[in-house]
Amino acid sequence: MFAQELDLAPLERVLDEFKGQKGAIIPILQRAQEIYGYLPGEVLAAISKKAGIPISRLYGVATFYAQFRLTRRGRHLIKICDGTACHVRGAAKIVEGIESALNVPPGGSDPDFKYSVEIVYCLGSCGLAPIAVVDDKVYGQTDANNLVAHVKQLE
Ligand code: FES
Repeated sequence: MFAQELDLAPLERVLDEFKGQKGAIIPILQRAQEIYGYLPGEVLAAISKKAGIPISRLYGVATFYAQFRLTRRGRHLIKICDGTACHVRGAAKIVEGIESALNVPPGGSDPDFKYSVEIVYCLGSCGLAPIAVVDDKVYGQTDANNLVAHVKQLE
């Protein structure tokens, strides 16, 4: 679920579940992110208040671990590799093609939050360059048109 108006009731239930448990910051943040898709400030503030954890500590944990996101992300994540092999074989064209077809800037999301694009540097499959990963599905030797066609089928 990606919240527009945040319903904090599901979060309250999670916090009740972990009530009084020490060292539960990570599982609480994981559950909160499952509910909201990311960790909005309002959610962190609610956790801080109800669980009695300083907000600075919550931000510290949320920014330390790569699994946590503080900004909203699209429903589908497109990772485009721009490591050396992929760069040489046209990664930049894929990035441009995706941006113009889906209105998603690199590192950002489209206005409807259908897609987000992340640029990564070497996915360890250089023989398949240029490569992109959409929601954990790998697209090797791909190009923008091919990727856009696949990605559009997801919605
Ligand atoms: S550079 Fe893209 S997979 Fe290695």
